[in-house]
Amino acid sequence: MLFHRQRRRVLIAGVVTVATAALGIGLSTQFAGAQTTLRGAADEIGKDIGVAVSYDQLMNNAQYRNIVATEFNSLTAENAMKWDATEPSDGNYTFTQADAIVDFAEDNGQTVHGHTFVWHQQTPQWVQNLSGTAMRAAMVDHINTVANRYEGRVDSWDVVNEVVSDSNGAMRDSFWLRAMGEGYITTAFQTARAADPNADLYINDYSIEADNAKSDRIYTIAQGLVSQGLLDGVGFQSHLILGQVPSTMEANLQRFVDLGLKVRITELDIRIGMPADSSELARQAQDYERVVSICAELADCTGVTVWGLRDGDSWVPGVFPGEGAPLLFNDDFSKKPAYNSVLNALGDGTTEPPTSDPVTTTSPPPPGDGCTATLSVQSPWNTGATYAATVKADRALTGWTVTWTWPGSERISNAWSIQGNLTGATVTGSNVGYNGTLAAGQSTTFGFNITKANGSTASVPTVTCTPA
Ligand code: XIL
Repeated sequence: MLFHRQRRRVLIAGVVTVATAALGIGLSTQFAGAQTTLRGAADEIGKDIGVAVSYDQLMNNAQYRNIVATEFNSLTAENAMKWDATEPSDGNYTFTQADAIVDFAEDNGQTVHGHTFVWHQQTPQWVQNLSGTAMRAAMVDHINTVANRYEGRVDSWDVVNEVVSDSNGAMRDSFWLRAMGEGYITTAFQTARAADPNADLYINDYSIEADNAKSDRIYTIAQGLVSQGLLDGVGFQSHLILGQVPSTMEANLQRFVDLGLKVRITELDIRIGMPADSSELARQAQDYERVVSICAELADCTGVTVWGLRDGDSWVPGVFPGEGAPLLFNDDFSKKPAYNSVLNALGDGTTEPPTSDPVTTTSPPPPGDGCTATLSVQSPWNTGATYAATVKADRALTGWTVTWTWPGSERISNAWSIQGNLTGATVTGSNVGYNGTLAAGQSTTFGFNITKANGSTASVPTVTCTPA
């Protein structure tokens, strides 16, 4: 009963206009046994779960449209709002594609994260050839025109994209920098702020998920913009490689939050060397869960946008030869393991049951009866390793505790989706807010990094799991 009531509420939030006609026909039977959606789960915790959409697919593929509408509460145009799409020649604006995407979002009650005004790619040659003064005028006109058109309909904008280079945190040597100097960034933000004072303004970049030289430079730029009241958020693109979610990601996002900013995972994909086997897809699911959990647990993280719907829609194979399978859906629209782990990280659309709800078990089960937990080493290195862990419920649970003892000097250095006494020789940890309530047969995951003696093998202790 409890499940049904919760699921139903989630689904009501999740269907919005796609199934408005069905809302009258008795949701309890209509959706009995239906799965919750990413959208329903994200709505419940007040986060955006977004997807980058292609205009062509949105126009031509009904199944694509349907999944975009039901599974996501936020959209980004993968290409349709870039400069080459919106102003291919000076003063000639073309909004057919961008309009269609914003209309779709509006019809389906979705927010729009706008991408992007000022970038060194997908910007026409005519802009790149301008002198500093003319380039500034073109930038101001472009931002004014696009931001004004979507004022009130686009919630946030990537005002500048990829302004820092990959070498030691230096500014990117782009045509913008060369013609206008570093001030081009301030000009872009000042123009966007004046054009749409209610939109949230973001600076967006890749390889800034970790605490590193590049994110340090973004931090410095952000400080400057914050002091002028021009910046609202930082977008972490998060085009990641399997097994390489940075261990400093949480702390790094937090330092931007500490500046008073929002943070957002704007272009998430996690690529795998092709062909991807089932164990890699399972590890990918762990990586997705980790990234989405970081955002779910950080109040000022506004949401996560995945950079495309199906693996075949992704930009990855074209840009990183031999790599692929980076998204949540297969080409036939079936869900990959990563889909389920994102759902888990968003809280599965379930909430803690109220204490007044009757507990249906007859007598408390003995410790260890009711759930099982396993650890696996994801990626070891000389002095440490990343572990993935699965907790499986043998019956309906409202919480769980796991414990094990390290045989040697292994110690947890940081952990996600679990809390408790984690750093000693004996580890005792319990579910966090979203991953305690499990139906019979359902699994959830947590993970952690350890430090260990140089060169030693990362051991896999036996875990005891006890229902709460
Ligand atoms: C990519 C799109 O996915 C491709 O379709 C297009 O050909 C090139 O751009 N960082 C960004 C995105 O900010 O705009 C890029 O999108 C991916 C990298």
